[in-house]
Amino acid sequence: PVKIVTIGGGSSYTPELMEGFIKRYDELPIKEIWLVDIEDGKEKLEIVGAMAQRMWDASPYDVKVHLTLDRREALPGADFVTTQFRVGLLNARVKDERIPFSYGMLGQETNGAGGIFKAFRTIPVILSIVEDMKELCPDAWLINFTNPSGMVTEAVMKYGKWDKVIGLCNVPVGAMMKEPETIGKTLDQLTYKFAGLNHFHWHKVFDEHGNEVTQQIIDAMYEGKDGGIPANIHDIPFFKEQLDTMQMIPCGYHRYYYRQEEMLKHGLEEYNTIGTRAQQVKQTEEELFELYKNPDLDHKPEQLAKRGGAHYSDAACETIASIYANKNTHIVVTTRNNGAVPDLPVEAAVEVSSFIGATGARAIAFGPLQPAERGWLQCMKNMEWCVEEAAVTGDYGKALQAFILNPQIPSGATAKRVLDELLLAHKKYLPQF
Ligand code: NAD
Ligand code: G6P
Ligand code: MN
Repeated sequence: PVKIVTIGGGSSYTPELMEGFIKRYDELPIKEIWLVDIEDGKEKLEIVGAMAQRMWDASPYDVKVHLTLDRREALPGADFVTTQFRVGLLNARVKDERIPFSYGMLGQETNGAGGIFKAFRTIPVILSIVEDMKELCPDAWLINFTNPSGMVTEAVMKYGKWDKVIGLCNVPVGAMMKEPETIGKTLDQLTYKFAGLNHFHWHKVFDEHGNEVTQQIIDAMYEGKDGGIPANIHDIPFFKEQLDTMQMIPCGYHRYYYRQEEMLKHGLEEYNTIGTRAQQVKQTEEELFELYKNPDLDHKPEQLAKRGGAHYSDAACETIASIYANKNTHIVVTTRNNGAVPDLPVEAAVEVSSFIGATGARAIAFGPLQPAERGWLQCMKNMEWCVEEAAVTGDYGKALQAFILNPQIPSGATAKRVLDELLLAHKKYLPQF
């Protein structure tokens, strides 16, 4: 019998996680689920926790959902710890987005200055969770969703010295759900190969005869077929000539880099009118919690699809089931490179196609990239290392280095001003600085 602990259990996404576990109960016999939150999330935890229990009660399975504000009460004996917390909740995200935009830079939860500050707030917390796990559940797997998922996962390996960790994202899931039908195929007919970093990966696709079909999918998307872009990303098309020469499909977030001018312009327009994504999401979250309060609701509501992270449970629950039942399923995860992407060191955390089984993730060899992609990848990976080091040490110079290296932040006096303003705005959550 399996024990799951979910940190950040008060998230509006939790019903989706429950649905994923209920679907897989036969291969993953869960006995208890502990949803952990903090005082600031108490009300959310109680509402979504009751909803989660109703979902299990409506299923054929006997699973108890425990709620606690003390993670040390939940962790003992855990088999899998999943993390989906947001330090400072959505109010902190509003600042991550609005402060950079107020200086004419991209404000986004995982890219640019906002993404860097989400890492600064989150990495100390995840490292303290790892310390508790060493003591209370030393054999457990840590399945991380907390953004920026790649950097947070790498910090666990590098600074937490904890190897049993897998980082996840729903973006590859979305692509694999939608792309096959653009060329009249089903997913089981195709072989996907992903490589890169979280929110910065590319992929190639092959058919059942081993022929590459990447170009066909690119062509189909330019004929207006839906390639599965996440709900939170504005769909400015990539330049077709660029994709034709790249022979890979970029992830949705690459738009911030390949069409930086247009994405920034769109972001600023929203900032000046309807508000940033965090402000929009607050509305959706309120609607969702109103629904969850209904004692008759015992299944995941449609409205959750408005959130960019929709379908994340397909990655989370499938990863857990694959480890537990040694399924060796193909899943795109953040894990140790081990040579899969030879343009990066072996110990780097990368987001790659992997086989997931009882020993965790085994990254599948992708091979070297062309100069343009290699350049981007190495820049972004080194930027991530600066961010992680700054998050751990609180070194202002390192934080500034990360800012200056980040392609969303033009260097100069304004970059320093944005850094200082964010440090002040998030002071409460940045004891290391
Ligand atoms: P949210 O604002 O609802 O936060 C989730 C919960 O975390 C809240 O109830 C909050 O009180 C709690 N929390 C905050 N600090 C905590 C701490 N120290 N310990 C325990 N709980 C704590 O956030 P959300 O919109 O549901 O997203 C949750 C997280 O998952 C975010 O980091 C988000 O970026 C991430 N996410 C990632 C993916 C992905 O693809 N990797 C997809 C969806 C969401
Ligand atoms: C998905 C990403 C997640 C991110 C989410 C944001 O694209 O994979 O990592 O958290 O979108 O969605 P939201 O609805 O919060 O803007
Ligand atoms: Mn993601």
